[in-house]
Amino acid sequence: MRSLALASSLLLAVASLAVAADPAPFEIAHRGASGYLPEHTREAVVMAHGLGAAYIEQDVVLCADGVPVVLHDIHLDDVSDVATRFPGRAREDGKHYALDFTLAELKQLEMRERFKPATGERVFPKRYSGSGTVFRLVTLEESLAIIAGLNASTGREAGVYPEIKRPAWHLAQGKDLSSAVLPVLKRFGYQDKDDPCYLQCFENAEVRRLRDTLGYQGRLIQLLGGGGKISGGNTDKAKFGRLEGLQELSKWVDGIGPPLGEIVMGESVDDRRITPLVADARAAGLAVHPYTARADDLPKWASDYDDLIGLLRKAGVAGFFTDFPGLAR
Ligand code: G3P
Ligand code: CA
Repeated sequence: MRSLALASSLLLAVASLAVAADPAPFEIAHRGASGYLPEHTREAVVMAHGLGAAYIEQDVVLCADGVPVVLHDIHLDDVSDVATRFPGRAREDGKHYALDFTLAELKQLEMRERFKPATGERVFPKRYSGSGTVFRLVTLEESLAIIAGLNASTGREAGVYPEIKRPAWHLAQGKDLSSAVLPVLKRFGYQDKDDPCYLQCFENAEVRRLRDTLGYQGRLIQLLGGGGKISGGNTDKAKFGRLEGLQELSKWVDGIGPPLGEIVMGESVDDRRITPLVADARAAGLAVHPYTARADDLPKWASDYDDLIGLLRKAGVAGFFTDFPGLAR
């Protein structure tokens, strides 16, 4: 009897601790499961879904046909064989821009692990190095379609997390990226705050335009750079990583996406400290989804990947971008 009573009080204690602690933050698969397969490819999306990511990210740019495609940069040089497949098609700066290629041309590219075009050196040397599989670029539509298909066939719903990449640059080229992306999201049922989608952007002017001009009603995330800086639009506040700036942001967005170094600071495990950013953001009614947890590129203040995720949880983030979905469990 005594052991039964002891067991039930232990269970009660564990249960009350579980209620008191912040819930585990959810995972946003950064460029798909990019720690394991070339970023943003269909294979990386499928793996991210299989590993249980709550959300799967799509960086989005336009190609010459005006179709939104999933690519981190406005140029193709760091992740594909564009330079050898399409010689003579670079702009004056030596780069090949997705906007200068039709979708049919982009589909001929072989997508690769990220590398430095000047040297050919891989950015993450220990990542995928298999041979015999040709990876292709996907459109936003194709990325959302495979996720919808997997949601249906597995019965587990993963959300989507598209980023509007370099909208001001697109507008300067005469192209409106956001106006091309929103109808695609709508076709897949992503338009209101109840839908499992976060739309994100670094440029504050575009974040405001999405709400005020384009009428986007879904969840919106303002990405922050180092030092809490935002780019574009209202730059009279250099730092939005402060309570007053966050309160202003909350008129437009549902959350912020800062770099990891804005959540925890320090040059080593011994001198690290959690910054007030998450507490301030939560006080302003904003969720915080920092980027990017990488098991093969840890911040100086984290002893290992689990330590990193534990600190993010302690800081109170709602979710986090990771190249390695599933690893923290
Ligand atoms: O969108 C969150 C994070 O992905 C921002 O950094 O450069 O990887 O798009 P980046
Ligand atoms: Ca991104």
